[in-house]
Amino acid sequence: MSISRNVMWGEMKGMRKIETAEQMPAEYRQTLLKIVYALASTEFASVEQHQAWINRGPTAEDRYIQSQISADEAHQGFIDSRLLRGFGPEGEALAEKLLVLKMGEHPLHAFNVPFESWPDVCGFCFLLDHVAWHHLLAFEDSSFAPLAREMTTMVHEERFHASFGARRIRDLVHDARYQELASAGPAEAQKAVDKWYPHALDTFGAAKSKFSDLAVAYGIRRWGNEELRQKWKADLDRQIVAIGLRVPDANAGRRIQ
Ligand SMILES: [Fe+2]
Ligand SMILES: [Fe+2]
Repeated sequence: MSISRNVMWGEMKGMRKIETAEQMPAEYRQTLLKIVYALASTEFASVEQHQAWINRGPTAEDRYIQSQISADEAHQGFIDSRLLRGFGPEGEALAEKLLVLKMGEHPLHAFNVPFESWPDVCGFCFLLDHVAWHHLLAFEDSSFAPLAREMTTMVHEERFHASFGARRIRDLVHDARYQELASAGPAEAQKAVDKWYPHALDTFGAAKSKFSDLAVAYGIRRWGNEELRQKWKADLDRQIVAIGLRVPDANAGRRIQ
């Protein structure tokens, strides 16, 4: 998509987009800092989750793609850290903190959950990388111009991770050769979908959230938490059914509503 120079929605619609922290009203700055920090926290955390699987996938392509995903997430982590440092000492401190957090300490719970098996890795890519993709789509024409510009690479990286996950979950259900190589099949694919589905829904945050309303009102994000969650759910429920798996109960195992 083409990126506009002016803010496209919300209270600042029609104004020139924001380029630097100095231009931000206090509440805008606070909201954006929270968003960039949350995004940044997922990147190094998912490197930590994926790296253990770089050499363990059943095919050479699986192994290559796991290392590509780890590299992409690290790349995104450095981009997000650079954006954080643009906020001055407060952002610098947050960027530094993210470099030392380990599994169990990450702000978003889904990124503290280790991968238990190869089908589990595929299930994470299928469900959580679609979460990332939907989130990033909401930043594509953000009122913070530097963030919008980064989406020209990041959106496509997440699309690649998500479609890899969808393809391998499908292969586990339908491809006899892949089932043999992975020593797993439809039952393991369903188990992985069941495990990650509530985590994916939780990752969008609370349905009622002042912070989410502000992010949309300031043109930082196109859609609010609940709207994004429902977009993801409609997309993924359709894909899960098309593969021939069962859509889990959307209320089971949830931590955030
Ligand atoms: Fe990412
Ligand atoms: Fe990803």
